[in-house]
Amino acid sequence: MSAVPVTIRRTVELQIDGDAVRVPEGSTILDACKARGLDIPTLCYGETLTPVNACRVCMVEVEGSRVLVPSCARKAEDGMVVRTRSDRVDHSRKMVLEFLGSSVDLSTTQHVDRWNREYGAAPERYGPPAPPAPEGARDRAQAGRHHAGDGQTAATVAQPVKIDNENYVRDYAKCILCYKCVEGCGTDWQNTFAIAVAGRGFDARIATEFDAPLPDSACVYCGNCIAVCPTGALMFKSEYDLRQAGGWDESAQTVTETICSYCGVGCSLELHVQDNTIVKVTSPLDHGVTHGNLCVKGRFGFQYVQNRAPGADDGA
Ligand code: SF4
Ligand code: SF4
Ligand code: FES
Repeated sequence: MSAVPVTIRRTVELQIDGDAVRVPEGSTILDACKARGLDIPTLCYGETLTPVNACRVCMVEVEGSRVLVPSCARKAEDGMVVRTRSDRVDHSRKMVLEFLGSSVDLSTTQHVDRWNREYGAAPERYGPPAPPAPEGARDRAQAGRHHAGDGQTAATVAQPVKIDNENYVRDYAKCILCYKCVEGCGTDWQNTFAIAVAGRGFDARIATEFDAPLPDSACVYCGNCIAVCPTGALMFKSEYDLRQAGGWDESAQTVTETICSYCGVGCSLELHVQDNTIVKVTSPLDHGVTHGNLCVKGRFGFQYVQNRAPGADDGA
């Protein structure tokens, strides 16, 4: 009888806020903090995505390091001494939250109100928001031609919502430029490359090729970008319409797990249902095959379920 191979994984021991923590080699500082039950704010981090260190809200102090380090990307090392709540860390998080909060609509970003309170962030101290950009103005902004603000109002990325298809809307007034949608659409998962970051500095934005509307772009409507967007900038049209009508109510929703019936891949689906109607579809991030990703059929092809014959049982 042959022996069952045993995989031995090395561990590293580090100190976090004075406590010794042992984690498998290759873990990030954020992984180690989570293992300690510490709540570190994150925005651009995604458990299924390559870290890009874009938002800088997860920074921690590492002894011997001149600068703060992004806990979501930096690997834990033997003997490392980490501080997650020093004055320097708190000040940095406060600054990041204020810069984001004063320029971006974070009204549908989870946890931000709590973090603002925790770090004493007051985005409103940057002044009232400047008027929104006219439709398409930010998409046409050219690198190196950024105009200085008026000194009275806070510059923002406010602009009209892009609604150009029946599946999902793009509300870039809510975009923090975290790159997660670009990663999901690109080499991390979908390899479609329909979107990328265009422009520079404050004019940087997510764009399709030549700013084409989604139906004319390379987008295949897998919706994997919506699945990872942390701010609601990318949103199911069904959710957007309900929110606009004041009817979106997560507390009244159920989530039912099932298997997509369209093809033999058999992706896991989570059907979010409100008032007996599917309002959006997600897929579990911890699924070993699909990692939260779907194709257009699994993500958006749910209307047929709701095409009930007149008078048929509505499921009550
Ligand atoms: S649209 Fe969403 S996922 Fe994409 S960069 Fe903006 S905030 Fe991040
Ligand atoms: S989501 Fe797409 S790939 Fe997955 S089972 Fe459904 S049809 Fe097949
Ligand atoms: S969550 Fe670590 S840099 Fe954004």
